[in-house]
Amino acid sequence: MRAAVGQAVLGTVLVAAVLAFATMQDFHGLHVAGVARVTAAAGSLSAWLAFVAFAIRPRRSAAASATDILVVHASQTGFATELAELTATMLRDGGKAAVARSIGELNAVPANAARLLFVVSTTGEGDAPDVASAFRREAMGVRPRLHGLRYGVLALGDRDYANFCAFGHELDRWLRDAGATPWFDLVEVDDGDDGALRHWQRQVALACGAAVPADWSRPSYGAWRLRERRLLNPGSLGGPCFHVALVPDDPASLRWDAGDIVEIGPRRARDDTGLLPHREYSIASLPEDGALHLVVRQLGVGSRWLTDVASPGDRIDLRVRRNASFHAPDDARPVLLVGNGTGIAGLRALLKARIAAGHRRNWLVYGERQSGVDRLHVDDLERWHADGDVERLDLVWSRESRGSRYVQDRLRVSAQDVKRFVDDGASVYVCGSLAGMAAGVDAALRAILGDRALEEMAASGRYRRDVY
Ligand SMILES: Cc1cc2nc3c(=O)[nH]c(=O)nc-3n(C[C@H](O)[C@H](O)[C@H](O)COP(=O)(O)O)c2cc1C
Repeated sequence: MRAAVGQAVLGTVLVAAVLAFATMQDFHGLHVAGVARVTAAAGSLSAWLAFVAFAIRPRRSAAASATDILVVHASQTGFATELAELTATMLRDGGKAAVARSIGELNAVPANAARLLFVVSTTGEGDAPDVASAFRREAMGVRPRLHGLRYGVLALGDRDYANFCAFGHELDRWLRDAGATPWFDLVEVDDGDDGALRHWQRQVALACGAAVPADWSRPSYGAWRLRERRLLNPGSLGGPCFHVALVPDDPASLRWDAGDIVEIGPRRARDDTGLLPHREYSIASLPEDGALHLVVRQLGVGSRWLTDVASPGDRIDLRVRRNASFHAPDDARPVLLVGNGTGIAGLRALLKARIAAGHRRNWLVYGERQSGVDRLHVDDLERWHADGDVERLDLVWSRESRGSRYVQDRLRVSAQDVKRFVDDGASVYVCGSLAGMAAGVDAALRAILGDRALEEMAASGRYRRDVY
């Protein structure tokens, strides 16, 4: 009898220890990149303990821990992050334990996860967001056994692109192949479509047993006014580019961080021929500048309204979207900023934020066509460089330079300096055109730093891109 009690006590202590360990695994050991870099022995021990804990967990406790829902986001320009956080908040409001995490923090599907929601976008030409590239190669390069896992996927995309929601579908296929069970069909979102978002919200609430919330609306557009518009590149061989300054009717709306994006609401064209779609632009200023600046190239109907039709004082529907994946580091580490054309917008805001914070280890590599005419805020850049606020400034004029014509060529020529800068802890920010520039810069960085190093930088937020 005593022995039996002793065994039971010992067993309970062991089970408690194992459960405590497994719970720790639940919250801290979610194969978080970096944290999971323990020895193989410790890894297999914890896997075994997690397995034992799972196998012997009493039903009640299994049910209790199964309420933990991880909402994993993979975002290029912040929308998926915003939606993942809204989803987690909605679940918490409905009494569930839910947290949102970047896919860059995971290097595998958590071994003991029971319920996962993915909110992922597609970028480039059917590519995964940068932050997901390491996960895609490492985790999705193998087929784990994910039986027992239930999941949902919200796939963000845009039907104007050839590979609609490609990464969402790829992730969904991989999860199914690994034996995981979809809770509900993948939900595709075309260009932020509200109906699809409401559908996702309902599916999640029903699947998780949370109350279906009354409504889940994204922030509404605020009333802003066009204050100033100025042509930045008279005589350019390229399309006209404008500096556009906007101010809100409500001064409290003058609030954002460098790296954030604005969405200009859909509007009826002057001649009433139809609805102009909503447009997104990188913000080029800080709230302290007293206005929200954009750099807009006149291309297509949406930008024509802003750059041609609207007059100063006209009302513009606008909302700011937080794009944490393009925010500047909040410490003094060096940053390498690379971009071309209107990409100067996001880079200018980042530089302003860095300079305001007293961080001067900034190296900018920026490309346009001709030094005489394509001066998109280049005077600011030269002044900052002269003042020492920009440590190194490489202006690359494609129609003039012999040798390195484009920013990617300049990076290759400066490979040793790039390597040293990154070894010093630099983060890399790329802003501008996807066609030509972004892929060329990516290839140059891979050649200089190595594929794996660059993917690790992307996963840990040291390689960030706002390209379009
Ligand atoms: C440069 C760029 C490339 C894109 N490529 C695709 C694509 O290949 N397929 C697709 O469905 N959507 C594509 N999109 C649309 C995005 O997936 C969509 O805007 C999404 O809402 C962005 O979410 P995020 O901010 O979380 O990255 C692309 C968007 C941009 C800006």
